[in-house]
Amino acid sequence: MSTPDLEARTVVKRFGAHTAVDALSFSVARGSFFSILGPSGCGKTTLLRMIAGFIAPDEGDIIIGGNSMADVAPNRRPVNMVFQQLALFPMMNVGENVAFGLARRGVARAERAKKSAAMLERVGLGGAAHKAVDELSGGQRQRVAIARSLVLEPTLLLLDEPLGALDLKLREHMKIELKQLQAAFGTTFVYITHDQSEALVLSDHVGVMNKGRFEQLGTPQELYYSPATPFVAGFVGSNNKICGRARTIDGGIVELESTEGWTIRAAAQGAVQAGSPVEAFVRPEVASLGRAASELPAGQPGYTATVESLLFDGANSAVLVRESKSRFEFRIALPQTGRFADLRVGEALHFGFDPARAACFPTADAARA
Ligand SMILES: Nc1ncnc2c1ncn2[C@@H]1O[C@H](COP(=O)(O)OP(=O)(O)OP(=O)(O)O)[C@@H](O)[C@H]1O
Ligand SMILES: [Mg+2]
Repeated sequence: MSTPDLEARTVVKRFGAHTAVDALSFSVARGSFFSILGPSGCGKTTLLRMIAGFIAPDEGDIIIGGNSMADVAPNRRPVNMVFQQLALFPMMNVGENVAFGLARRGVARAERAKKSAAMLERVGLGGAAHKAVDELSGGQRQRVAIARSLVLEPTLLLLDEPLGALDLKLREHMKIELKQLQAAFGTTFVYITHDQSEALVLSDHVGVMNKGRFEQLGTPQELYYSPATPFVAGFVGSNNKICGRARTIDGGIVELESTEGWTIRAAAQGAVQAGSPVEAFVRPEVASLGRAASELPAGQPGYTATVESLLFDGANSAVLVRESKSRFEFRIALPQTGRFADLRVGEALHFGFDPARAACFPTADAARA
């Protein structure tokens, strides 16, 4: 295996009594797209700033391209950073913005102009070199910011929520562009986001961060289909969460009774014990719907419910139902055949899911205690 482009070895950063990054270790393979996904305040920016060298870890080491960065100043690291509030220089035109880092490195003017023009061409802004920054759209500015970093040919490009300032439509578009740019350049991207859909779409690997640690590091598919912890199950993708107590465990399947009094079955993840508090997760697309009990797949537990509300969203449409006995509110994805397009609020329904495709964890607080 080749040397990873980035390696963090038990990196710790404390701010007073608060541990912002807590003994984190991971490595990022050359040429890959790596995302760090986590809620606000979990330590993402702190981690990125240590990689960039703006702050020093209290413990541990950061290794880039096989070399320890312990005594390497930020401007000597083979790293570039794109910020959320991208700071293009308004008094310089687009070409000068892209050439700025080259100028600081002492690259001659003609060479700078050539490299800057070639880079603008590659990010789809050929011919924009003489434009003023304020003549560009938000998405175009973002591409200039990325071009300005890539022109320096860093080993690592660090991106801190680079799409955060853009509106939703543009974010969706730039998401695809970013992925294509990364594939075309082959530069290793370390990308920070609190948006799970961005992380899933863009990344080869994702570290799901919570309170300064990675709860799970895996491919988007692993995180989605095999979440390792309740936090990951709740944070990545949409999920019904059912809290309660385990009654029995048989062949890896837990029977649990929810706080509301709903009895369901789900596959045990981790050390679930009879009598102990658990939380189960069922994805909306795992459940099936029927107007009669006989329409549900045979051999699965079935429940009755009434339609609480219809959430029409094209191909992502869903229905919220209330389970009859417990009044538990449960989200079910609607099939794209349009078979349930005429559902009415208050209508009676049957639903069920395969217990093997639902995950039951020991309650997070109990597991940590
Ligand atoms: N310079 C600092 N001094 C003191 N505390 C800090 C400092 N920088 C960050 N923190 C604290 O460390 C924690 C992690 O902050 P960080 O900026 O890394 O979060 P984040 O995951 O990037 O969040 P967001 O998604 O909101 O940007 C927070 O509780 C924050 O208040
Ligand atoms: Mg941040």
